[in-house]
Amino acid sequence: MKIIQAENYKDLSEKAAKFIIDYVRNKPDLVLGLATGGTPEGTYEYMVDDFKKNKTTYKDVKSVNLDEYVGLSPENPNSYHAYMYNHLFKHIDIPENQRNIPNGAADDLEAECKRYDQLIASLGGVDLQLLGIGHNGHIGFNEPGTSFEKRTHLVELTRSTRRANARFFNTIDEVPTHALTMGIKAIMESKHILLIASGKGKAEAMRRLICEENISEDFPASSLQDHSHVTIIADKEALSLAY
Ligand code: F6R
Repeated sequence: MKIIQAENYKDLSEKAAKFIIDYVRNKPDLVLGLATGGTPEGTYEYMVDDFKKNKTTYKDVKSVNLDEYVGLSPENPNSYHAYMYNHLFKHIDIPENQRNIPNGAADDLEAECKRYDQLIASLGGVDLQLLGIGHNGHIGFNEPGTSFEKRTHLVELTRSTRRANARFFNTIDEVPTHALTMGIKAIMESKHILLIASGKGKAEAMRRLICEENISEDFPASSLQDHSHVTIIADKEALSLAY
C-alpha cells in the first residue's frame, strides 16, 4: 500500500482529484469506480473545477458506483443517484448511458445484483476504484462479517453506519436499513484502488488498516492488504494513530 499524507481535507481532496484526473488523461476510456459520502465531496469539487478550467474530458469514461440505499428512488434527494448527479455528473461530460449505479428501488433486488455484476464484467472490470472507509472498517457497504467472496449483494446496514450517515437525513429513522453494494470480491478485482480518509474520526480505522497485519472479515478494509495496487491518500488527522 502506498500512503500519501495530506495536510488537511482540502489538500487531500486536491491530491485525490489530481490522481483521478491523471488516470483519466492517460486512459480516456477508463472504467472508474466511484464512492459517495462526505469524504469524496471535495475530490469531486476539484474534478469539476478542473473540468471547467482545463477541459479534461470524461466522454469515454464509464463509471460504476459502489452502492445505493434500498428503497430510495433515483429522484430521492438522499439517494446516491442524486448525490452523484449533484456533486459530479451534472457538471462534467460523462454521458448518461455510461454512468452506472445499482438501483436500490428495483422490484427484484437479487436480479438487480446479478445485472450489476454482469455489467461490471461486460466493462472488463474496474480500472480505478475510489473508496472511502467507515469507522468500523467497511468499504462500499460491506459491513464487518461480510464474506470476502461476495459480489454485488444486499446488506443490512449496522446501527453505527446508519448513525454516521444520519447527518444527511432529518432523523436516523429515515436512514434506510438496507443497501445494495459491490462486494469485496469485485472491489479486489479492480486494477487500482484509491482509498481516501479524513479527520480524527477515521484515525482508528486507518491505524487498523495500516498497522495491523491481520486480514479478517471482521474488518473489511483489511482485505486491501492482499491487493497489489492500493494508494491511500489521507490527511494528518486520519493518519494520527498510524505511525
Ligand atoms: C459510500 C461508501 C462508504 C463510505 C464510507 C465513508 O459509497 O461506499 O463506504 O465511503 O461510509 O463515508 P464518509 O466519507 O461519509 O465518511
